[in-house]
Amino acid sequence: MQLAGKVAVVTGGGGEFGREISLVLAQSGASVAVVDQELAKAKEVVRAVRSLGNEGEAFQADVSEVARVRAVLEEVKEKYGGVDILVNNAGVTLGKPALEVTEQEWNQVIDVNLKGAFFAAQAAGREMIARGGGNIVNIASVGALVAEKNTAVYSLSKAGLVALTRNLALEWAGYNIRVNAVAPGYARTPLTEFIMRDEKIYNALLKKVPLRRFCTARDVAQAVLFLVSAASSFITGHVLVVDGGQSTG
Ligand SMILES: NC(=O)c1ccc[n+]([C@@H]2O[C@H](COP(=O)([O-])OP(=O)(O)OC[C@H]3O[C@@H](n4cnc5c(N)ncnc54)[C@H](O)[C@@H]3O)[C@@H](O)[C@H]2O)c1
Repeated sequence: MQLAGKVAVVTGGGGEFGREISLVLAQSGASVAVVDQELAKAKEVVRAVRSLGNEGEAFQADVSEVARVRAVLEEVKEKYGGVDILVNNAGVTLGKPALEVTEQEWNQVIDVNLKGAFFAAQAAGREMIARGGGNIVNIASVGALVAEKNTAVYSLSKAGLVALTRNLALEWAGYNIRVNAVAPGYARTPLTEFIMRDEKIYNALLKKVPLRRFCTARDVAQAVLFLVSAASSFITGHVLVVDGGQSTG
C-alpha cells in the first residue's frame, strides 16, 4: 500500500475522472476527501471509497469560491491532521467560437479551472509545508498543447494550469512539494457528452488519436497515481500527456 497513511483531496471528485482518481488513491491506501460542488455525487464516491475499507469524507464546495476552498482544507486538516496529496481535477468546459464568447462565460471557465486550482493549491500548499512535503497534480488537457476549434477559453485555462504547475514546482521544491500535471486526451464523459454524441464529430475526433481509442478515467487515474507515488520522486514541474499520441502530429 504505497499511499498508506496519506491524506488526499480530490476536487471535482464526484465526476467521471474524479471518481476513478479517488478510488485508485484509496486502493493504494490513502484516505480521500472528495470535494465537489454536487454533494450527492461526492457522497456516492465516498461510499465506494469506504467499501474498499478506506476512510473518506465528502465535502461540498464550488472551487471558484476561495473562502469555501480554504474552509474545506481547514476541515480536512481537523479531521485527518493535514493534507499530503491534492488533485486539482474540478473543471468546466466551453465549446463556442471565440467570436461569441461572453465575459460571463470567460469568467466561469477561468474561475473554476484556473482560480479554483490556484487557491486550492495555495491552501493545500500551506498544509503540506507544515507537514514537511506533499504532492499536487493538476488535471490539464491536451487542449493546453494543441489547438482545436471552438475551445479557445477552455484551452487557455488549461495552458494556464500548465504554467501554474511549473511555477509552483519551482517555488515549492524547497518545501519538498512536487507539483505535476496530467494532460488527458479526449474522453467520453459528462463534460464532453455534448460533443461526443454527434457521431460525425465523434469519429473525426477518434481519427486524431493514433492509438485509435479515447482516454479513459482509468488512464488518468493511473497517471495521477504514478505522479503522487515514490516511483516519480525526482519528477516535478512535468506535464504527463495521456492522449494516445494525439499531440504528436
Ligand atoms: N473528459 C475529457 O475529455 C477531458 C479531457 C481532458 C481533461 N479533462 C479534465 O478532466 C477534469 C475532469 O473532467 P471529467 O471529464 O471527469 O468531467 P465531469 O464533468 O465528469 O467531472 C467534473 C466534476 O467537477 C465538478 N465541478 C464542476 N465545477 C465545479 C466547481 N466549480 N467546484 C467544484 N466542483 C466542480 C462537477 O460537479 C463534476 O463532478 C476536468 O478538469 C476536465 O477539464 C477532461
